[in-house]
Amino acid sequence: MERTLVLVKPDGVQRGLIGEVISRLERRGLKLTAAKFMMVSLDLAKAHYAEHVGKGFYEPLLKFITSGPVMAMVWEGPNAVAAVRQTMGKTNALEAAPGTLRHDFALQTRFNITHASDCPENGIKEIDLWFKPEELVEWQHDLDKWILE
Ligand code: CMP
Repeated sequence: MERTLVLVKPDGVQRGLIGEVISRLERRGLKLTAAKFMMVSLDLAKAHYAEHVGKGFYEPLLKFITSGPVMAMVWEGPNAVAAVRQTMGKTNALEAAPGTLRHDFALQTRFNITHASDCPENGIKEIDLWFKPEELVEWQHDLDKWILE
């Protein structure tokens, strides 16, 4: 089953939106596999956002993601990457569709509440970066029989 990394970033934590994010993903039918509430070290921030080195928003992004706690999670389900990104909406909140999390709770691009892996390969890499294998919980999601064909 596909897995994806989801972060509730410092803006989402400060605005009290951890529960909202979790609730939307739970209601969607996805399965929570791991979670930890943590401060992000500069090293982890740099490794996570390595693809953005050199871009104008890179340095402010590092400052932002290390500025307060984040809720890091792994969510699992069929096409979990696409499903979660659909629930979050486009990175730029102004382009996010009505009803998506970013449309409903954000206005711009940096303070966009969450991060979610952008493809299954990056999902695997990002989960490996943020979680130790033993932090992933194997459990039976009994509701699957009412959600998955
Ligand atoms: P995220 O999905 O975590 O991936 C990279 C992050 O960089 C993105 O969400 C935003 O928080 C931020 N970001 C991307 N593009 C811009 C931009 N043009 N201006 C400011 N921040 C950006």
